[in-house]
Amino acid sequence: MQSAEANQRIARISAHLNPSNPQPGENSILKRAECRAKGGAPGFKVAILGAAGGIGQPLSLLMKMNPLVSVLHLYDVVNTPGVTADISHMDTGAVVKGFLGQQQLENALTGMDLIIIPAGVPRKPGMTRDDLFNINAGIVRTLCEGIAKCCPNAIVNLISNPVNSTVPIAAEVFKKAGTYEPKKLLGVTTLDVVRANTFVAEVLGVDPREVDVPVVGGHAGVTILPLLSQVKPPCSFTAEETEYLTKRIQDGGTEVVQV
Ligand SMILES: NC(=O)c1ccc[n+]([C@@H]2O[C@H](COP(=O)([O-])OP(=O)(O)OC[C@H]3O[C@@H](n4cnc5c(N)ncnc54)[C@H](O)[C@@H]3O)[C@@H](O)[C@H]2O)c1
Repeated sequence: MQSAEANQRIARISAHLNPSNPQPGENSILKRAECRAKGGAPGFKVAILGAAGGIGQPLSLLMKMNPLVSVLHLYDVVNTPGVTADISHMDTGAVVKGFLGQQQLENALTGMDLIIIPAGVPRKPGMTRDDLFNINAGIVRTLCEGIAKCCPNAIVNLISNPVNSTVPIAAEVFKKAGTYEPKKLLGVTTLDVVRANTFVAEVLGVDPREVDVPVVGGHAGVTILPLLSQVKPPCSFTAEETEYLTKRIQDGGTEVVQV
């Protein structure tokens, strides 16, 4: 390789690893074209907040495997150095960098396109998602204040429960900061669709990959509304099956927490 080309590559990689502070009025310090991950294609810059947790670690792995991702920032208040080292050894293109503790939050967020938030505490047996509100509301608020300041144009995916409440909290933080963009703030409830597909496929005796159950509403108990009349491929259920499926889909998370 020509030495000028080699120097350019090194500069590009070091720009990911040591991002400088953003210039005023500049939303993303790293241009997508500069985001070539060790020779990979330009792609999205993604930060996971709460990356060392039960959800955060497998999510970090999935993002590192995603060919659309060129830069992956892993932030948590504990254990990020180990998780980052582990994930960074995967032989995929995304450049991984770890950030530990509140004082590194701004660097973790600066220049990111997508922020995914599984930070917070999970349910213990006997708890509802609402019982998590007091702790997780504060965590989400602080993280969103950082987002409003450092990457106001990023898409934000909230996983931290209770999602029905953490999304409105995030919306209020962004409104206060003047950065609220409804289409860029999403609560992650795909799990309800996945569970619905699995449980409906069990009842129908078919491959879950062939089933598509729309689920609307929220992400807690009775607010989870599987539309069993709209299942694809078209099918019908007895009243008993409808009751069983609706309850099992709505209580799927509790089933996991209790075992
Ligand atoms: N939306 C969904 O479908 C869905 C599914 C599963 C879990 N959840 C929710 O996701 C959250 C995480 O669950 P988990 O099982 O990974 O919990 P966990 O306790 O294993 O992990 C949470 C992580 O968040 C970190 N954390 C705590 N405070 C933080 C802060 N201020 N900044 C950054 N990181 C912080 C912790 O250090 C920990 O590593 C819970 O609220 C859980 O209810 C949502």
